Amino acid sequence: MLIVANWKAYVDSVAKAKLLVASAKKLTGKGNVEIVIAPPAPYLSLFADKKGKPAFAAQNISDSAGGAATGEITAALLHNLGVTYAIIGHSERRAMGESNELTASKVMQALANGITPIVCIGESERDADAMYLHFLRTQISSIFAPLSQKDRARVVLAYEPLWAIGKSAAESITPNDLYEMILYIRKVLAEYFTGKGAEQIQILYGGSVEPGNIRALAEGDQVNGFLVGHASVDAPTFAALVKAVS
Ligand code: PGA
Repeated sequence: MLIVANWKAYVDSVAKAKLLVASAKKLTGKGNVEIVIAPPAPYLSLFADKKGKPAFAAQNISDSAGGAATGEITAALLHNLGVTYAIIGHSERRAMGESNELTASKVMQALANGITPIVCIGESERDADAMYLHFLRTQISSIFAPLSQKDRARVVLAYEPLWAIGKSAAESITPNDLYEMILYIRKVLAEYFTGKGAEQIQILYGGSVEPGNIRALAEGDQVNGFLVGHASVDAPTFAALVKAVS
């Protein structure tokens, strides 16, 4: 199981970052859990190490290959730094204007440079006519359609319904609803794979995952891991969360 700690912009000092990384290191190698830390970009150069544990992720990457692109951080740079994952298309970035097309081109940059993309999808609200399923299908298609079979198999998906993000365990998705959504996502994925390919894709869930609900959400082994925001920036809370599924 993959647990990705998305620090967002919560951690604003090196001292706090060091404390969180040291605490996460103690949790690595426990049970079947693999931890990935996604800190704000400047911290990556302090901690990222290709072979080390935990692994590190960028919270965003450039769709540019490099050169004259002021302010951008390329996939090649991240790869050379020892970063192995990148969160792409997070809803907070999509809210800043990132489209499905831009997300797809970032995914291609990541794959071309040896970075595993963790691509976020998720509806903002649920309507009685289930139009949100159509919305999700479009997001999934935009990522997978342009890729080769080989590259498709390297994508990690994170299902993060916007209505569940940044709340509390009580307001998160229910295990039953999550189960149904994972089934739906795998059904859509099956259109892009031959054989059992779609079943091998890692699907994470994110949106108010806390120590109090992670075990119930993990039950049944439908979900392959979690993308954790606010509960990942408090060391004891994150440790409790990891231990609950280790
Ligand atoms: P949250 O954030 O755990 O604070 O809801 C998850 C995310 O946005 O990745």
